[in-house]
Amino acid sequence: MNREMKNRRWLITGASSGIGRELARLAAREGARLALVARSVEDLQSLESELRGQGADARAFPTDITSEEQRHNLFRQVKEHFGELDILVNNAGSGAWNHFVDGTEKLARDIMEVNFFAPAEMIRQAIPLLELGQQPAIVNIASMTGRRAMPSWPEYSASKHALVGLTEALRGEMVRFGIDVLLILPGLTRTPFWDRLLKKTGRANLHVEKVMAPGEVAAAVLHAIRKNRTETVVGWDAKWMLRLQKFFPSLLNRLLARRVKKLYASGP
Ligand SMILES: NC(=O)c1ccc[n+]([C@@H]2O[C@H](COP(=O)([O-])OP(=O)(O)OC[C@H]3O[C@@H](n4cnc5c(N)ncnc54)[C@H](OP(=O)(O)O)[C@@H]3O)[C@@H](O)[C@H]2O)c1
Repeated sequence: MNREMKNRRWLITGASSGIGRELARLAAREGARLALVARSVEDLQSLESELRGQGADARAFPTDITSEEQRHNLFRQVKEHFGELDILVNNAGSGAWNHFVDGTEKLARDIMEVNFFAPAEMIRQAIPLLELGQQPAIVNIASMTGRRAMPSWPEYSASKHALVGLTEALRGEMVRFGIDVLLILPGLTRTPFWDRLLKKTGRANLHVEKVMAPGEVAAAVLHAIRKNRTETVVGWDAKWMLRLQKFFPSLLNRLLARRVKKLYASGP
């Protein structure tokens, strides 16, 4: 399959920053019409102006996707503007880098709200619009931690596992409506995600400045949508980690445990 891009109506969550912003730029270049969704009004509007300046039909819809009322408002406006939808990209996300004993119930719930409940409800509301769309697809941006949970990312890994589980269940169900369901599993990516972590008490040195650029992930997402790839792992770290997990899960467990032991050898 070669999915058409020109004049297709996309809704991208988390379009104000990082991977979502780069994806919006690439999709606009392909002639897609874009509903840009995030909370930061200024960042969304600057992207809207940039893309419109290049001739794209892009519109900012400032929305907190964890709010039921704002989601309803969003879909009412999107329906007014676009009529139907062809692509829904659930990209918005947040995370925390800490050990579970240092976290709280609120932290876990906050992460689950953005990374799981919000995309789930976005999908529920998008189905009637997607059902009427052309070559419609739901694209969920999870993470390599959605297939292999990692120490220091307990709440984040759990939320991405939940999103992966939903994605796989829906892949079968959505056949009824002719909607494809695609999953993206990126590795570490150099975006503002790292500055916005809800907690940052993990101990390892993260060399975020050296990891993959968001444009690389955005290009892989665009390719997956065009070619209708069911599951796409992006980045060498994610590819290696998931290969190790598949073929040598006990070795990976031992390596990760050894690392934690070393990092916490000096005490809690
Ligand atoms: N960076 C990485 O290493 C990495 C690796 C694997 C997977 N991912 C995943 O990739 C996706 C994009 O992350 P990124 O790295 O591009 O991070 P980012 O630059 O921090 O972007 C996150 C986006 O989510 C939006 N967002 C957060 N909470 C929201 C809410 N309640 N309502 C609406 N929008 C909300 C943010 O916009 P506002 O703040 O304006 O609302 C922002 O546009 C996430 O799902 C993340 O988990 C990232």
